[in-house]
Amino acid sequence: MTAGDPAPLLLIEDLHVSVGDRQILNGVDLAIHEGETHVLLGPNGGGKSTLLNTIVGMPAYRITQGRIVFKGTDLADLEIDERARLGIGIAFQRPPAVRGVKLRQMLEVASPAELTEITIAELDEGLSLGHMLDRDVNMGFSGGEAKRSEMAQLLAQMPDLALFDEPESGVDLDNIAVVGAAMNALLKGEERISERRRAGLIITHTGHILEFVNADVAHVLYNGRLACKGNPLDLIEEISDHGYDACVGCKLCQTL
Ligand SMILES: Nc1ncnc2c1ncn2[C@@H]1O[C@H](COP(=O)(O)OP(=O)(O)OP(=O)(O)O)[C@@H](O)[C@H]1O
Ligand SMILES: [Mg+2]
Repeated sequence: MTAGDPAPLLLIEDLHVSVGDRQILNGVDLAIHEGETHVLLGPNGGGKSTLLNTIVGMPAYRITQGRIVFKGTDLADLEIDERARLGIGIAFQRPPAVRGVKLRQMLEVASPAELTEITIAELDEGLSLGHMLDRDVNMGFSGGEAKRSEMAQLLAQMPDLALFDEPESGVDLDNIAVVGAAMNALLKGEERISERRRAGLIITHTGHILEFVNADVAHVLYNGRLACKGNPLDLIEEISDHGYDACVGCKLCQTL
């Protein structure tokens, strides 16, 4: 960052995270500015979800070194709900079921402005929530339904930083476009970058969702660190052709 650049919306410095007695992340550095959409790539079990879960403050994830700063505030002492109120939202990889809470109620609670910006009817129209609205959140939802429910909750919340953990996994080809449109509505991907404000971090293995959402840069999480940075579609192609080992340090890294 050079003098005069605005402070990043999210700043992660030298982040080390343990789950139980296992260290999963060992030195992650990342800066996301307003209006930017970043992609996070990496092998199964590498710690991608761990990074997102740590940002939102899930209790199992313990920061042993380093810090996460959002809007200038160190998140270390903030609970999950305080982080959500500050403007961080997540669509989980495997969203938990919430017995006794209807999706309709969850959308009302998630919305900071009583759904004035986007009404439940609009969410229903865009995401075909239908019968899901009056069922307990994620109780018996199919894989694709659970992803649409997650998207609806994020759209109701309209967070300044939206974290998407494999939004297209288990989603059929028709519904990927639906999920992608919802992500675009949130990130305002079609506007000029100078006008965009909300930021996103998207975990994807296939990159299919990037046909619908514009992303600025991708990072590869490898051995507990962000080991490579480059153009999202180029990096995904490189990884699918040559694998993660070859990608890290390849000519595409640090091309941005
Ligand atoms: N709550 C938890 N309790 C115990 N172990 C955990 C927990 N969360 C993550 N782990 C472990 O941390 C490691 C990293 O998992 P994580 O889910 O972050 O990987 P990932 O990169 O998201 O993988 P995938 O691509 O398969 O989703 C794994 O070995 C996983 O079993
Ligand atoms: Mg994961």
